[in-house]
Amino acid sequence: AEFFKTMEDKSDGGTLRGDYTHADAQYVVTQNRDLYTEAQHELWRRLYDRQARLLPGRACDVFIDSLKSMDVADGIPDFDAISRQLMQATGWTLVAVPGLVPDFTFFEHLANRRFPVTVWLREPEEFDYIAEPDVFHDFFGHVPLLFNPVFADHLQEYGKGGLKAMPLDGLTNLGRLYWYTVEFGLIRTPQGLRAFGAGILSSSGEIDHCLSSPQPRRIAFDVERVMRTSYKIDSYQETYFVIDSFEQLFIDTAPDFTPIYARLRDMDVLPANTLLTGEIDQKI
Ligand code: PHE
Ligand code: FE
Repeated sequence: AEFFKTMEDKSDGGTLRGDYTHADAQYVVTQNRDLYTEAQHELWRRLYDRQARLLPGRACDVFIDSLKSMDVADGIPDFDAISRQLMQATGWTLVAVPGLVPDFTFFEHLANRRFPVTVWLREPEEFDYIAEPDVFHDFFGHVPLLFNPVFADHLQEYGKGGLKAMPLDGLTNLGRLYWYTVEFGLIRTPQGLRAFGAGILSSSGEIDHCLSSPQPRRIAFDVERVMRTSYKIDSYQETYFVIDSFEQLFIDTAPDFTPIYARLRDMDVLPANTLLTGEIDQKI
């Protein structure tokens, strides 16, 4: 699995990877493609090839189709070029960032239909596993879904919802929603279960595990249930939540979360491997 600390987690002790010295107030930098070496482009090609091979029958159609249409197999992509395609498709743009950004900044970008993409690429030793999002995770994992209009709208609403959740003390709950959908979500399609989460789709191991392993639970998506459930940051997920459509994701997350945050404050957090009575573990 890949795991993503927030910038706040990092601030106690750990150091952030990435060069923040040229970032502006929104943490935006210029991508500066000249600085990538040929070896880094080659590493991207290897990452891309391995992962692209795993997608058929595992990734949802929009992911596969959008990835193809972006034409980014041949080296670390030019964010501005893809930004222009994305603007045409769904009105989103990509902004380059040095690495993790503060919650407020992240939400502000999403709320304005800007997706922050980390500029640096992992080292060859990190081919299989990386503990912090790099350009391969951010770009390969997240950008394809932004071509889907409903998902794109949802992610903007998520950004607005993040800004709203901050003074309501709802970020832990809201973060779980992001984790179990945008990062590790599964979707039911007429052809079977497929992955749409970026943490899955940028991982060589989890992409098969999440669909084929008998170990993890696969439970129908429910907003409140998801927001009560803790998650694993350093192993494969013990539970995946399954949506029926991106429309469902949009509609189910549209209601005001204020009373939900208040309610969840008094409820126990559910361990990641919980199966509640009445819930069905959707066997594969
Ligand atoms: N509906 C949520 C609220 O009122 C905001 C939100 C929308 C959160 C979409 C996540 C996704 O707080
Ligand atoms: Fe991510």
